[in-house]
Amino acid sequence: MFGKFSQDLAIDLGTANILAYVKGRDIVLDEPSVVAISEVGGRRRILAVGQEAKRMVGRTHGNIRAIRPLRDGVIADFEVAEELIRYVIRKVHRRRAFVTPRAVISVPSGATQAERRAIREAAESAGARKVYLIDEPMAAAIGAGRPVSEPVGCMVIDIGGGTTEVAVIALGGVLLSRSSRVAGDAMDESIKGYLRRTHNLFIGDQMAERIKLEIGSAWPPEDGDGLTMEVRGRGVVSGLPVAITITEHDIAAALAEQVASIVDVVRMTLESVLPEIGADIIDHGVVLTGGGALLRNLDQVLQNNTGLPVVIAEEPLTSVVRGAGRALEELQNYGSMLEE
Ligand SMILES: Nc1ncnc2c1ncn2[C@@H]1O[C@H](COP(=O)(O)OP(=O)(O)OP(=O)(O)O)[C@@H](O)[C@H]1O
Ligand SMILES: [Mg+2]
Repeated sequence: MFGKFSQDLAIDLGTANILAYVKGRDIVLDEPSVVAISEVGGRRRILAVGQEAKRMVGRTHGNIRAIRPLRDGVIADFEVAEELIRYVIRKVHRRRAFVTPRAVISVPSGATQAERRAIREAAESAGARKVYLIDEPMAAAIGAGRPVSEPVGCMVIDIGGGTTEVAVIALGGVLLSRSSRVAGDAMDESIKGYLRRTHNLFIGDQMAERIKLEIGSAWPPEDGDGLTMEVRGRGVVSGLPVAITITEHDIAAALAEQVASIVDVVRMTLESVLPEIGADIIDHGVVLTGGGALLRNLDQVLQNNTGLPVVIAEEPLTSVVRGAGRALEELQNYGSMLEE
């Protein structure tokens, strides 16, 4: 017999990526939160999920659409989100179709009751026997190894695809949090807009993201143009496919506004913490997590603008799912942080 809890899983249902973690098996699924569907006569059919569906984005036609069911960290398309959760549960337990696991799912701390209910119902109807919810910043902090139960304040900045969440945690609870829609997707949009305006080049979402990953930076290179990249798109004037070379300097300029906005959210959050908590944050630093934590020089820019030590979580893309998984494994320590 397998252990009573061995099939339990943690899910981070992110705007950009969906991850699942199972005790003893580590991260068992890590895919883009994209579902490709065909719509014929009002009937929707799932064609592909995850990586396979993401490749279809920008290349769909007629009845085929690629949907990202999460927007700004919350469910925008309930039916498709449910399919996505169902896909995860099936894929993780493919050898035992009858398994009805317990699941812990992370939710943005600003999620409304209705949104929480929607996520819970989606997981239940996808086969979860019991569903717990955990606040994303709490999960991120646990995943990043922070002592969240102690009477010590800690700050987490989670920059995902749809939202940037800044939260202060102590004694097992979120003391305060702020969220902004300026995160990875907004950075990609900004790169698209910048290249259109300054280089007369139209590019798609995926190319914009690739540029950000390859040569994106929160701060321009000290001298020269820095890294370069050949980018393919369509000429605004000619309408024809073209390839041009762009630089790290270009992209730092394209991202400057988003970076400034993230700095603002962090500063505003710091302005409302009590002095004791502020002192804790000075001592222990700020944890940066989510995929956006990997933007070149962002940690440095945040550090310079807040005067606080900023540490990038060890694996920023997986902190939330690991923390959620750990909370479920150690209910005796973290049970009070889960919403049943
Ligand atoms: N090296 C990198 N530099 C900059 N951005 C990155 C890097 N790697 C990933 N990202 C961005 O991080 C975002 C995805 O991060 P993450 O998986 O944490 O988001 P998510 O949890 O799905 O979204 P959310 O938490 O907003 O619902 C994407 O926008 C991606 O482009
Ligand atoms: Mg996230």
